[in-house]
Amino acid sequence: MHPSPFQRTPLAAGPAFADRTAELARVVHAFATPGSALVLYGPRRMGKSALLHEAARRVSARHRRVAIVDLATAVDAPDAVRRLLVAVRGAVGHTWQSLLHAVAAKLQLSVTLTPNPDGTSLPGITLGVDSRAAERAGLFTDALVAIDAELNRRKLQLALGLDEFQRLLAWGGDDVEWALKAALERSSRIAWVMSGSATTLIEDMVTNRTRAPWKLADHLRLGPVPADEFAVWISARARRGAGRIPAAVAQDIVRLAGPRTRDIVTLAHATWRLASASRSAANALTAMDDLVRETSAPYERAWLQLTQREQRILRLLASQPEVQLTAEGIRREHYLGAASSIGVALSGLRKKGLLADERGQPRFDDPFFLRWVTLSST
Ligand SMILES: Nc1ncnc2c1ncn2[C@@H]1O[C@H](COP(=O)(O)OP(=O)(O)OP(=O)(O)O)[C@@H](O)[C@H]1O
Ligand SMILES: [Mg+2]
Repeated sequence: MHPSPFQRTPLAAGPAFADRTAELARVVHAFATPGSALVLYGPRRMGKSALLHEAARRVSARHRRVAIVDLATAVDAPDAVRRLLVAVRGAVGHTWQSLLHAVAAKLQLSVTLTPNPDGTSLPGITLGVDSRAAERAGLFTDALVAIDAELNRRKLQLALGLDEFQRLLAWGGDDVEWALKAALERSSRIAWVMSGSATTLIEDMVTNRTRAPWKLADHLRLGPVPADEFAVWISARARRGAGRIPAAVAQDIVRLAGPRTRDIVTLAHATWRLASASRSAANALTAMDDLVRETSAPYERAWLQLTQREQRILRLLASQPEVQLTAEGIRREHYLGAASSIGVALSGLRKKGLLADERGQPRFDDPFFLRWVTLSST
């Protein structure tokens, strides 16, 4: 069987990366402008990281130095600094070792380089951080300032992408925001792109006038790829493999999967796989149902952890997306209890990431979980 033309891991790149022409141009421009900062934000699974990496790929093809730091899985500030140093090492090349030691000296950190067992790739970096340094809210931003100063000494420029940068704020709160402001103001050698998915937090940050640090940064909210364009791209892309996805089926895929890029690519892959394996006409809903059955374990687990009221609410929203949950007739007919209890259940479902609000109405966050609830209701 041909490899799938719909790539989810590693992140879609090159021809597997759909559309986003205008957004790519903005991020590429930001990466090419030292001293500038762009905040890229949007809902989960929309394609922020893929956009960041695709822009970085294009910028590095023009011989610019690019480092991307993923803060999503960093455990604390010292771990984030280690990741930063590893990423910068990849970008600055042969001068990195002296740069690393200069930065570490400024931060009063000890740095150990541990050889990789295979002996081929660059050694790993271990950071010795004394506990006072680790508690410093500005450890990461101090590292950025020190890197900028070292770049300045060497007359080098760096495009720096910080993915899920709002984690820095989670570790250090307001202090980090101000430290980041100072770092942005002082930096002349770094072109910053910071991306993150805690949409309300970031939206509040970039639009709230009292949060001064963010006045310095430009911002770009990543929305869905336009449905028609995505459908055309899916059909064209499927032609590279053995499975055909006609235009009407591509439109079904985009409609069933909803607005998030990852969900659309996932369903396109499942539809393409089914069509090429069975050599039958592609069908998006059959592919979705196959996929939901195959991957039902996490949905079952999530379901079993819900209260009865939460389960009833989800069933109801799956069959009637526009239902007014607090209407008296609905509450009585579906045993939902008092309006205040419904409010508690809804906020529990939002906290668990199962529901998200869209223009005041609660909606399933994950179209595959929505389908699982529908299939398991009968
Ligand atoms: N423009 C695109 N064309 C094709 N596939 C894409 C595109 N953008 C993203 N993808 C794919 O969609 C999936 C989700 O993208 P990505 O991880 O970039 O989203 P994200 O917004 O960073 O999500 P998260 O909030 O989980 O960090 C990935 O598998 C990626 O390969
Ligand atoms: Mg991401």
